[in-house]
Amino acid sequence: MERLKVLATRPLFPAAQEILNAACEVDYWKQPERISKEELFRRIKDKDGLVCLLTERVDQELLLAAPKLRIAANVAVGFDNLSIPDCTKRGVAATNTPGVLDETTADFTWTLLMALARRLGEGEQLARSGNWQGWDLDQLVGADVWGKTLGLIGFGRIGRAVARRASGFQMKVIYNDAVRAALDVEKGFHAEFRDLDAVLAEADFVSVHVPLLSETRGLFDAAKFARMKRTAFLINTSRGPVVNEAALVQALDSKKIAGAALDVYENEPSIHPGLKRPNVVLTPHIASASLETRTKMACMAAQNVVTFFKGGRPPNILNPEVLKAR
Ligand code: DGY
Repeated sequence: MERLKVLATRPLFPAAQEILNAACEVDYWKQPERISKEELFRRIKDKDGLVCLLTERVDQELLLAAPKLRIAANVAVGFDNLSIPDCTKRGVAATNTPGVLDETTADFTWTLLMALARRLGEGEQLARSGNWQGWDLDQLVGADVWGKTLGLIGFGRIGRAVARRASGFQMKVIYNDAVRAALDVEKGFHAEFRDLDAVLAEADFVSVHVPLLSETRGLFDAAKFARMKRTAFLINTSRGPVVNEAALVQALDSKKIAGAALDVYENEPSIHPGLKRPNVVLTPHIASASLETRTKMACMAAQNVVTFFKGGRPPNILNPEVLKAR
């Protein structure tokens, strides 16, 4: 097999390097800082493949700078950073990493939910501050989780993994999704379908698990927050632009909702200053960040590239139509 040239915008993990190095000549970007757009465009010029992160945009501009590129393998399940129509137009295969991060992301959704309800961040700060005066009856009282209603917006693999964990907390689970699940699936997850407004009106915890699409961009706006209970919490581990941050800040200011926990942001890495408040838990887009899962994601991306170069169908191809033209 011809050793084709690949650019990886991060060193990846050793297991993924092994897969790639066995079949390709790989240029790993190893600097601690992110690869700049200029550097990316300079290095991609002579490359046949790209392994990229969700922080890189694969769009018409990049594709024009990459005349030899045949595959772009995203190390993420979300692929809103890839322009699939542009890739397809130029015959570039695009892949993502579905499935391997569902349980880890669901674990983290619960980490956020619990931290928010039980005021973990504030408690941790107080315990470390040296100012703790000892146990007190109404100190940092939060909200119960068990027995409450969990509302899922999006009931795909990750939403379902979150739902499965809710039964241990004896919660009622309601959900909305563009496509209603089959009845036996709903039964299996003890989840009931509602229209979006009903989920918002009924849930104590609203957790978002939708991809970023034109239909979901800005989905959580002032009107949606107005429909939620004043005691309800919002958790977002999907994509930042699904939530209008200015509207969220406004909803928090006017006490339309009780709090929020966010792992993703409208304009990462910047975070709306109005979100830096005690009743908002903030984490830096780490929901899938366990060593096991991130390693699997990197290996999956590497496998997609190698399979493609060997003439096979990449397991996670997003635009299979480009394969016909080979
Ligand atoms: C993804 O994969 O889309 C996450 O946001 C990062 O794991």
